[in-house]
Amino acid sequence: MSATVIADPNACIARINPEHYSHFIEHLGECIYDGIWVGPESAADHTEGIRKFTLDALRGVGPAVMRWPGGCFADQYHWRDGIGDPESRPTTRNIFWGGIEPNRFGTHEFVDFCQKIQAIPYICGNVGTGSPQEMMEWLAYCNGHDASTLVEERRANDAPEPMDIKYWGVGNESWGCGGHMQPHEYAALFRNYHTYLSRMDANVQFVAVGHDATWNRDLLRALQRGNSVPNLQALSIHRYFSRDRNEFVYDEAEHLDLVAEAHLLEQDIAQADGTLKNYEDPAHPIGLIIDEWGVWDKARATPEHGLRQPNCLRDAIIAASCLDIFTARADRVTMTNIAQTVNVLQCLVETRGPEAWVTPTYHVYDLYQAHVGHVAITTHVESPTLDVLDFRQSPVHQLSAAASLSSDGTRATFTVTNRHFSETLACSLNIHDGHMGDVGGRLLTGTDARAENSPANPTAVTPVPLDVEGSATTVHLDLPPLSVAVVTASVG
Ligand code: AHR
Repeated sequence: MSATVIADPNACIARINPEHYSHFIEHLGECIYDGIWVGPESAADHTEGIRKFTLDALRGVGPAVMRWPGGCFADQYHWRDGIGDPESRPTTRNIFWGGIEPNRFGTHEFVDFCQKIQAIPYICGNVGTGSPQEMMEWLAYCNGHDASTLVEERRANDAPEPMDIKYWGVGNESWGCGGHMQPHEYAALFRNYHTYLSRMDANVQFVAVGHDATWNRDLLRALQRGNSVPNLQALSIHRYFSRDRNEFVYDEAEHLDLVAEAHLLEQDIAQADGTLKNYEDPAHPIGLIIDEWGVWDKARATPEHGLRQPNCLRDAIIAASCLDIFTARADRVTMTNIAQTVNVLQCLVETRGPEAWVTPTYHVYDLYQAHVGHVAITTHVESPTLDVLDFRQSPVHQLSAAASLSSDGTRATFTVTNRHFSETLACSLNIHDGHMGDVGGRLLTGTDARAENSPANPTAVTPVPLDVEGSATTVHLDLPPLSVAVVTASVG
């Protein structure tokens, strides 16, 4: 089997923001507690209470933005519970994910974590059980630089400088766990929150809760004033891959279903894009943020298990396919946050007591850093198809691919994934009307779909240098079944 990719440096899509490679953490299972926060008294290796392995691993993939504290949890979270003397903080019931929330990881710990991994903080505010007043005060506490009592309180809590929280989500899944609202109900609340929050800090970006095509249309219609929707900088949507499935069996049929399901993101983005175009002022485009996405193995990742699921090569293949979709839609997608960084759902880092390791999905993020800051360019792909149909009832390519060009136009990056369960794919990479040199690359693969890293074998699935050969016009590489590769080359 063979496939060809022709990348066209003259057909630029848009810059790939670092924010495309962003993350999400929630007070759920062992994501925050144990995964990130072990506390200053912990026997585990830590830096000021934050697990050192997690810090080092995340630094390695340059997470652009970190979203917190939920998820569903965000709409029951009251920020004052998580500031001040840790010993005096209240404990609260986690109504969505069970257990008692100790509130040891609050705003200061979150911001400290973000600073340590050089991520931009993104706070998802409480609309479900909160108020505009509460969120406005949270914003003032974090970002204020005046002499108000709230800012003085922050300074007294050891944070003299403003925290510069750049992104503020106005609720989470307000159509579901965030209040089961109708679009017009959420629109009224969004307008109200936005009125006050934006006066408190005009420099931050507010993210509205989006959903499916109907919700997005009705929400934007309700927010419309005159010809367009004012004051909306970003709309967020979520997409998990777990539809109608009670069990993951890791066989080929299931893998093909997941690959096809991942392509629903193309539909999500196209639908949201069309709706946004109808309602936005072209001079002020509204960004599309996919701030929760990933594989959700519903058979294993139950609330009783803290939404833990095995993270294996199959998931890495899905992650790479999705990141290629985001690259191709860099014209609309401004941020994406895989769910959820540590120990929950499609995570990058796993911990168990003193042990910690990175997952195959982690390595995809590592490989894809090569695109950051580049301009996405159009690719023409010729590939065999898989034995599955996508949402359009069209066959799905065996090869997933994306390409980008450095901003000075001198280097190209290709990401290519062979999604076939058992067959190698001979792949040719070309630059339209151009030459390539100084070619290098890395390859991620494993023994089978279920290959995973573990404390006993933490590097079972890990990137290796890639054998590439070819002429100045074509780079050839063999992609083993279920493999992801990144190839970089100078272009001229
Ligand atoms: O990531 C798990 C949950 O999935 C989040 O809390 C919620 O936003 C979504 O439904």
